[in-house]
Amino acid sequence: MTQHIFINEVAARDGIQAIHTPINLAGKLALINACAAAGVQAIEACSFVSPKAVPQMADADELFAQLPDTDRIQYSALVPNLRGLERARAAAVQEIAVVLCATDTMNLRNIGLSLAQTIAMCIDTIHAAEQYGMRAKAYVSVAFECPYEGLVQASSVLDLCDRMIQAGASEIVIADTIGAANPRQVKDLIGECVKRYGAQRVSAHFHDTRGFALANVWSALEVGVRKFDTSIGGLGGCPFAPGAAGNVATEDVVLLTEQCGFSTGIDIAGLRQAIRVAEGLVGYPLGGRTRAWLDVQDKKQTGQKLS
Ligand code: COA
Ligand code: ZN
Repeated sequence: MTQHIFINEVAARDGIQAIHTPINLAGKLALINACAAAGVQAIEACSFVSPKAVPQMADADELFAQLPDTDRIQYSALVPNLRGLERARAAAVQEIAVVLCATDTMNLRNIGLSLAQTIAMCIDTIHAAEQYGMRAKAYVSVAFECPYEGLVQASSVLDLCDRMIQAGASEIVIADTIGAANPRQVKDLIGECVKRYGAQRVSAHFHDTRGFALANVWSALEVGVRKFDTSIGGLGGCPFAPGAAGNVATEDVVLLTEQCGFSTGIDIAGLRQAIRVAEGLVGYPLGGRTRAWLDVQDKKQTGQKLS
């Protein structure tokens, strides 16, 4: 089993969409540049959604044209419909992500369509992406619990995953959008995904609302998952899912996995620099569960007093 962990940094999309302070194009590029400098391999840069629904993503077209290090970094963008796909194609996006929420109400809140309509929209978008030569991965969101409909059955999530894979999705991303999952549920649901589609085609996206995200990452690792969405400093949330906190922090996952013998190719000092850039943009302190520990390490390295 491979020991390399593939981190998809999502602060620029999942993180920034949840921030109320408008972040301009230069700010987003500074953030992405800092993540690139830290060695991040994949970045979800933006979403091609309605600017009325998510004003922070209104400049996605311009942003995509100015991304750094495009030979090395695998960039992706979220698209909610065929209009978004056309915009992504015009911006030369090579990998898109469709989002299928596991419940009716969440799809209605997110994109104004029922579950059945969203399934059809995702399938159409995946097919069209394929024709354009773009990779299309599929998120199955609120995969454990929906803020409106409560607990979600694993069997219905697996059914949605099967349909996305059958439609041609390159990868399934199981998303715990509101941070409600526990490690046992992760083992059962994501373990079954790995069995059905292979670890190469399964990725996990956890939010850290209850402090369970790292335990969930570990549980996913144990069933073979090697791809994770994470966000520097834990930036994030979802404007359509009340109560959702930020994503699991990139630095937390890097620290945990590297200390346990995995490799990420990501430099913690570089991540710390990227977090400072993000803090400058949002105007408040950021950091995951390891923040206090990392602060002490920084002080030790620079010879500062520890008090
Ligand atoms: N990009 C830009 N504009 C878009 C668009 C897209 N992908 N899709 C639709 N629009 C525009 C339409 O042209 C229309 O514009 P107009 O009012 O100037 O005529 C307007 O948005 C409304 O379109 P409509 O088809 O009636 O859809 P809607 O208002 O029900 O919105 C979505 C549907 C999907 C566009 C919108 O809900 C959305 O963008 N949601 C994204 C949610 C999100 O990002 N969630 C977080 C990720 S999980
Ligand atoms: Zn998320």
